[in-house]
Amino acid sequence: MFSRYKKSEGAPATAPKTSAPAVATAPTAQITSLRKPAQAAPASAHPVDKERKRKERIGEIKIELHRALLDNLNLAALDTAAEADLRAEISSIAGELLQEKGIVLNREDRAQLTQELYDEVKGLGPLETLLKDDTISDILVNGPHQIFIERNGKLVVSDVTFKDEKHLMRIIDKIVSAVGRRVDESNPYVDARLADGSRFNAMVPPIAIDGSLVSIRKFKKDKLGIDDLVRFGAFSEEMAAYLQAAVATRLNIIVSGGTGSGKTTTLNALSSFIDNAERILTIEDTAELQLQQLHVGRMETRPPNVEGKGEVTPRDCIKNALRMRPDRIIVGETRGEEVIDMLQAMNTGHDGSMTTIHANNSRDAISRLENMVAMAGLEMPLKAVRNQIASAVNVIVQASRLQDGSRRMTSITEITGMEGEVISMQEVFRFQRVGLTSDNKIIGHFTATGVRSNFSERFRLWGFDLPASIYEPVAAE
Ligand SMILES: Nc1ncnc2c1ncn2[C@@H]1O[C@H](COP(=O)(O)OP(=O)(O)OP(=O)(O)O)[C@@H](O)[C@H]1O
Ligand SMILES: [Mg+2]
Repeated sequence: MFSRYKKSEGAPATAPKTSAPAVATAPTAQITSLRKPAQAAPASAHPVDKERKRKERIGEIKIELHRALLDNLNLAALDTAAEADLRAEISSIAGELLQEKGIVLNREDRAQLTQELYDEVKGLGPLETLLKDDTISDILVNGPHQIFIERNGKLVVSDVTFKDEKHLMRIIDKIVSAVGRRVDESNPYVDARLADGSRFNAMVPPIAIDGSLVSIRKFKKDKLGIDDLVRFGAFSEEMAAYLQAAVATRLNIIVSGGTGSGKTTTLNALSSFIDNAERILTIEDTAELQLQQLHVGRMETRPPNVEGKGEVTPRDCIKNALRMRPDRIIVGETRGEEVIDMLQAMNTGHDGSMTTIHANNSRDAISRLENMVAMAGLEMPLKAVRNQIASAVNVIVQASRLQDGSRRMTSITEITGMEGEVISMQEVFRFQRVGLTSDNKIIGHFTATGVRSNFSERFRLWGFDLPASIYEPVAAE
């Protein structure tokens, strides 16, 4: 067969492990200083309704205990308290309160209660368990009483909730104030990055009508690599071989796709084909890429602060990056005026650059680029804009999230030049859908379209002599 991964040296390096815990732990603090000087706990010993389900019961106790805890703990000492001390103190205060109320819990319930109280006091409350669960990829909060989570490509409602909007707002505040931002009625939406690298966005009332909306894209410590994606059926071996050649021979590549379709994951996987000797600069709004190469400079844009100052846009970063002697520039997402600098970079010797764009297919990706150039206020005739796009972009990879939740590379298209006023393209690979199973799983296969790559000669000259057979269409099984 063909020689896939021909140029890769040695074993693929593993992604850098960033194990920043979501909850910061700080050493040293006197346990005694955690408790406020003697203050009677608000005692209201209702007998607990024995018939209530265990979970509801714990939930209620927790709310009450939480309030009591806040009254009893010296909040000023919290930040410096050692984790073990704080846990012990929470457990002891909880124990006292439970006893006072005559509530008996088994060991397991008690451990869970202490954990939840700890998360509440020190971490992100109900979100904490979801953030710790590695099988969850997205967390979507629609007001205090509904949290959706995505597991294995499927969105399901979680049984975790907030007590009320005030509780939810308190957690949002905690997150955004940690990164020096503010969110309130006059400033109702915010982007932030959690301590563990997860991407966070919140929008609060009155813009969010039914309670605050929060979306979290969990940071995946071990990003899916090319082999994983092939194994999961995101694309075929042949497509992987083609993409390896495309990246290694420095074609400019755009990964196009809808929200959550796997654009960043694909971009990250493609980057593994870049040679270790190259200097790569990455520019992102929230650093998600995990490049495995030696020589990588990472940049993150910055929104304006509360006074509206200090903004650093993707455009600022790209312009500056061009002065930093890059071999390649990778832009996490192109969505605005930075498109001009991106195209220019691709056209002026920084070939091999890559970015993602929000679009439904490759034609759409091109129109989006045109629109972005127009919106940037560049007075350029359409034909000239198209010319620039056609010479800058070589390959468009389309990522899609299909209706069964699976993520696939549904098309690989090459830009071949201009025909009159129109950019000409040719699709080289695609995902051919053929039907649905009874449980609504999509049936289909990857196939070449039968067109030989426009870059096959370039691939050959660079040492990636792909066999002609990979361009042959695959018949349905
Ligand atoms: N082929 C795949 N198989 C399984 N999971 C995948 C696949 N591709 C991506 N994912 C997962 O889907 C989620 C979304 O992926 P990713 O962040 O790459 O999407 P995106 O298109 O960049 O999203 P956004 O538009 O929000 O930036 C991640 O949790 C990722 O790990
Ligand atoms: Mg992304």
